[in-house]
Amino acid sequence: MNTATAFVAALLLALRAGSVAGSAPDAARSVPVFEAVPYVTAETSMFGPLIEGAAVDKSGSFYAVNFNDTKAATGMAFPAQRLLYRDKAEPRSWFNAIRFNVDAAGVQEAYLGDVENHRVVRVRDPGNNGRFAHSETFCASPDMLQPNDLAIAHSSHRLFLSGMRFTQDSVVGDGDLWTCDALGKAKKLGSFRRTNGIELSPDEKTLYVSEASNRGGNVVSNVILAFDVDVHSGDISGKRVFADFATIDGSGANDVDGMRADAHGNLYVARWGAGKIAKLSSAGALVAYIRLPSIDEVTNLELAGPRGTDLFAVGACKSDPQKGCIDTYSAPAQGRAFSNLHA
Ligand SMILES: *[C@@H]1O[C@H](CO)[C@@H](O)[C@H](O)[C@H]1NC(C)=O
Repeated sequence: MNTATAFVAALLLALRAGSVAGSAPDAARSVPVFEAVPYVTAETSMFGPLIEGAAVDKSGSFYAVNFNDTKAATGMAFPAQRLLYRDKAEPRSWFNAIRFNVDAAGVQEAYLGDVENHRVVRVRDPGNNGRFAHSETFCASPDMLQPNDLAIAHSSHRLFLSGMRFTQDSVVGDGDLWTCDALGKAKKLGSFRRTNGIELSPDEKTLYVSEASNRGGNVVSNVILAFDVDVHSGDISGKRVFADFATIDGSGANDVDGMRADAHGNLYVARWGAGKIAKLSSAGALVAYIRLPSIDEVTNLELAGPRGTDLFAVGACKSDPQKGCIDTYSAPAQGRAFSNLHA
């Protein structure tokens, strides 16, 4: 498809979704640019600047980390701001990721990635009343770099974990990929340059992981790798480049941060430092941008809300870098996570 055809196709999609208002073509790339609106602002925020780990639960409530500017606390942000879970037993915990799951017994649980203690904590809501009380270390390894973000396979309840460290000149080993089975057994899947965003396709046959490289302290490249994955065994194979931001839009120096798929397999990608989300098709083509009014350093996003179609993007506020902001945009399709929690 040439770019003009792609633009018309994207515009028709947007029209069908009734969300073309506020869109304008980006002259350079010929894809629609949608404008998000502020949801939680510097004035109203109860989150700190390390806001990350965007997540949705079964009811469509939206969550993030760094509640109350506390590394060991996570909070709900939609429909209301309140504490989800604060680790009082280990106050040095630093949560950076959240994923919800409904277990075989129908109990909702949340997995929290703790970059400081190289583990995933599981908190459970045995009464199914929104009180996530019971917590335990679910999986851990001192050899994990972090984990930074998590993806969960609906059909096997297996977790995939990305981690990274920021060095002057990236080498293989500055990023890693792990998996934890449903019983919490951790296994390393590989070493990479700086791996960060992680997501599965809706059919759970493809695992996406971002990989960035630094040279002389500068970010010089950002790609999204794809692997064939067996979510039951955890094995990955067939590593390939799914998207390279140097060729997509010349933004290889902007880090990929969180990534979330919708139920159709489109991938929404946080473009840290660029104040926008890039929407890629399941073939890796740029489909649209969503511009964020309150945030430049966007860390993550999720599709939440009562129908699972409200995109919430998080990051430090432009107007007050000591606060965490959230912008929202009405997307045409349900998120993969929300749709899985209802399957
Ligand atoms: C926020 O943290 C402060 C300092 O630890 C604490 O006193 C306060 O109760 C917390 N507020 C909320 C809403 O959790």
